[in-house]
Amino acid sequence: MGMYTDLLDKKRSIAVVGLGYVGLPLALALSAKVKVIGFDTNSERVADLRRGIDLTGELEEGLLNEALTGSRDITFTSSKETLKEAAFYIIAVPTPVDCYNQPQLDKLRDASTLVGGALCAGDYVVFESTVFPGCTEEECIPILEIESGLRGGRGFKYGYSPERINPGDKEHTLINTVKIISACDEKALSTIKKVYSLVVEAGLYHAPSIRVAEAAKIIENTQRDVNIALMNELSILFGRMGINTYEVLQAASTKWNFLPFTPGLVGGHCVGVDPYYLVYKAHELNYHPRMIHSGRFVNDSMGGYIGKKVVKRIIALGKNISESHVLVMGITFKENVSDVRNSKVVDIVKELKDYGVTVDVTDPYASAVEVQRIYKLHLTEPKEKCYDAVIVAVPHHPYLSFNEDDFLALTCPPAVLADVKGLYRGRIRELEYWSL
Ligand SMILES: NC(=O)c1ccc[n+]([C@@H]2O[C@H](COP(=O)([O-])OP(=O)(O)OC[C@H]3O[C@@H](n4cnc5c(N)ncnc54)[C@H](O)[C@@H]3O)[C@@H](O)[C@H]2O)c1
Repeated sequence: MGMYTDLLDKKRSIAVVGLGYVGLPLALALSAKVKVIGFDTNSERVADLRRGIDLTGELEEGLLNEALTGSRDITFTSSKETLKEAAFYIIAVPTPVDCYNQPQLDKLRDASTLVGGALCAGDYVVFESTVFPGCTEEECIPILEIESGLRGGRGFKYGYSPERINPGDKEHTLINTVKIISACDEKALSTIKKVYSLVVEAGLYHAPSIRVAEAAKIIENTQRDVNIALMNELSILFGRMGINTYEVLQAASTKWNFLPFTPGLVGGHCVGVDPYYLVYKAHELNYHPRMIHSGRFVNDSMGGYIGKKVVKRIIALGKNISESHVLVMGITFKENVSDVRNSKVVDIVKELKDYGVTVDVTDPYASAVEVQRIYKLHLTEPKEKCYDAVIVAVPHHPYLSFNEDDFLALTCPPAVLADVKGLYRGRIRELEYWSL
């Protein structure tokens, strides 16, 4: 009786389309309760998953092997035929921007085409990819309708449920974070609620419409972006005043309503990308969102700013910049992850190289192959007594225990320590210290 019971009885299955940072944990969680088809167009990714390898490194220890040894019900596949066996589809494919910062919806459209071709009357489709408000109903549902020959809302049901996971964060997970759900009608909402309740223990928030759910997701990241941009701008200003920004923030955060944002690089594929989706939609409506644009401008400029600051400090030490050697520690887009996509540390490296500086880059988590493939940069082990400046660009866990002696062992005095996130503030005596 009904789709939900069929899922519980394993007469029907759920397909998760796109097995990345978002899709894989969701597919594995659902597979403890229902039959799941984990679908990805990348056959290498599927082959890896079948062998128990997850290159994102985000999964709980042993979870994938548990799934493979049979205690969970999941099939990893790239087969369109297998996809047709599902009755409830969840789409979690990437929604990046292109080199002009315009939304790149091709993967979302491709996934909609694929799922549309597999849909049968009564099936469900839920989108999880981050998009601008209106995208699901304006871009994706028409594709599903054309491909399936069914009417959205009548022939098949649909919804939108944005993901809130935070890579590298083991505390806030799919299970323990409230999840927003929305749907085309009340009946669909009720079924979607039951399905997500199987795995989300923290509760579900019912958004009144799909557009509200899409907008809520995008402003969560836009709010972060604008606030970090304000901190970055303050850091540039305080730098000119000779005031340490982190000291100011520490003092200000003693007030109950001061928000705990800090300056830094904003890379990755969420905070640094999602605001552009909102900007795109705003432009379509002939509105030019200055706050959001300014935030993006400031944050996108920080890599170049940090690079220039280090160059000036090296010159101020009396060194010839074109003969200088700098070590950059950390290349991933944030701390304690292996993901290097849209890393803003690369902007620091580029700025330094533009001044003729020789740059070494090291990272304990990044894949040397990926860094070479995406950025044509060679990851290396740090050399002793070699550098005119060390830039701690990403506060990876192993770097937290470093002290001045560790940096002195790497540098050729006099030298600069550029501490982007202010980790070593108050602890550096001999090196020329700079932080945001
Ligand atoms: N990563 C995050 O922290 C995070 C958090 C919240 C929301 N999101 C959003 O979730 C969505 C997915 O992000 P992600 O980080 O999981 O992406 P990802 O790049 O890690 O993985 C996406 C997967 O989709 C596959 N794929 C691409 N096109 C496909 C297609 N047409 N059909 C099937 N599979 C396809 C890729 O091969 C890849 O394995 C994006 O919209 C993103 O903005 C991401």
